[in-house]
Amino acid sequence: MKIEIDGTRLSAEIEELAAISDAEAPAVTRIVFTPTDLKARRWLIGRCEKSGLAVRQDAIGNIFARWAGSDVGAPAICTGSHIDAIPNAGKYDGVVGVLGGLEAIRTLRESGLRPKRSIELLVFTSEEPTRFGIGCLGSRLLSGTMCADAARTLTNKDGSKLEDVRIAAGLTGLLEEVKLKSDYRAFVELHIEQGPLLERQKVPLGIVTQIAAPASLRISIEGAGGHAGGVSMPDRRDALCAAAELILAVENAGRSSGAVDTVATVGICDVFPGAVNSIPSRVQLSVDIRDTSVERRDKAMREIEGARQSIATKRQVSIQTQQLNADAPADCSPAIIEVLSEGCKRQGHSFMLMVSRAYHDSLFMSRIAPIAMLFIPCRKGYSHRPDEYASPEDIARGVTVLAETLAVLAE
Ligand code: GLV
Ligand code: MN
Ligand code: MN
Repeated sequence: MKIEIDGTRLSAEIEELAAISDAEAPAVTRIVFTPTDLKARRWLIGRCEKSGLAVRQDAIGNIFARWAGSDVGAPAICTGSHIDAIPNAGKYDGVVGVLGGLEAIRTLRESGLRPKRSIELLVFTSEEPTRFGIGCLGSRLLSGTMCADAARTLTNKDGSKLEDVRIAAGLTGLLEEVKLKSDYRAFVELHIEQGPLLERQKVPLGIVTQIAAPASLRISIEGAGGHAGGVSMPDRRDALCAAAELILAVENAGRSSGAVDTVATVGICDVFPGAVNSIPSRVQLSVDIRDTSVERRDKAMREIEGARQSIATKRQVSIQTQQLNADAPADCSPAIIEVLSEGCKRQGHSFMLMVSRAYHDSLFMSRIAPIAMLFIPCRKGYSHRPDEYASPEDIARGVTVLAETLAVLAE
């Protein structure tokens, strides 16, 4: 099958979507259910409808855009990703899988293909954890990994509830109805690698075999505040100094495992009251730990727990930990990996098998369907930063392999 995607149309759409942002270009910030995110969703739905797809949204705002196959009762083939972006991000994370997925479906439609199975684009709500503290909200609910009651307890930093925010965004259905009732035959996600291996090894495509197991913690440290001049050093119970020790313990838990796939990060450190001449009395940290091996990931978490207890005792502060998630890893389907590999070979592209340490909605889709992921290189492996970049050629290659894979799976 000769597949020729319209790279000019796709690049123009990537730019158009990047302009719907709360950050100054080239940075992109698009936090779930903000006016900007809602504007981007409307724009995207318009694109899907213009492409002849039947669009529906569920109660958490997952968007489904379907091209009906000749056998409408057969489990569909699905592709997709997310369009929300963390603060000060780039324009390709998630977007390549959404607009690339749309381009793949459009190209197949325009080629005159009449697939047996329906092919669907799925755009997941809040893959990023920025607003409600937990990533992959849409796919967790869709797959039944998170129940509606647990989602209803989620709040924004300012105290606003997910439930109120989504209803204000016009999503008035019941969260109980988000869990999918129909089956997918396969889910394939196209994504930038978000690491440097493909570029370093000069390989244009990566086929993912496994997605790492992510966990996150919210740690609250409470010490004693006071005057930066008046309180002498022996009398201090400085929450930020305790946090500093704990941050290094998190780093050490990641480094000391000896495995390249163990990673541990403190990405947020909120200090109260945050005045130059005031001893910090309260600190909140966010901790993100991942590994392809759940045993190693949990060992790193136990080390952090040990450090928490000893730092609290030594510094006479209270340190409370809340575990937000600790998910299992996912294996990709050997059968879909085979279809992707054959597609790469037929199109004359070399590829490598690799793991994804980044998490993706595919992790949760794996709980309900066979999944696979196709990676394209991104410059220097940069992601989650404004200079994230994937070339039009690399994107086009990925979209073309994706299109062929969808066509083969939908036969
Ligand atoms: C997704 O953005 C991740 O943090 O892996
Ligand atoms: Mn991301
Ligand atoms: Mn992503």
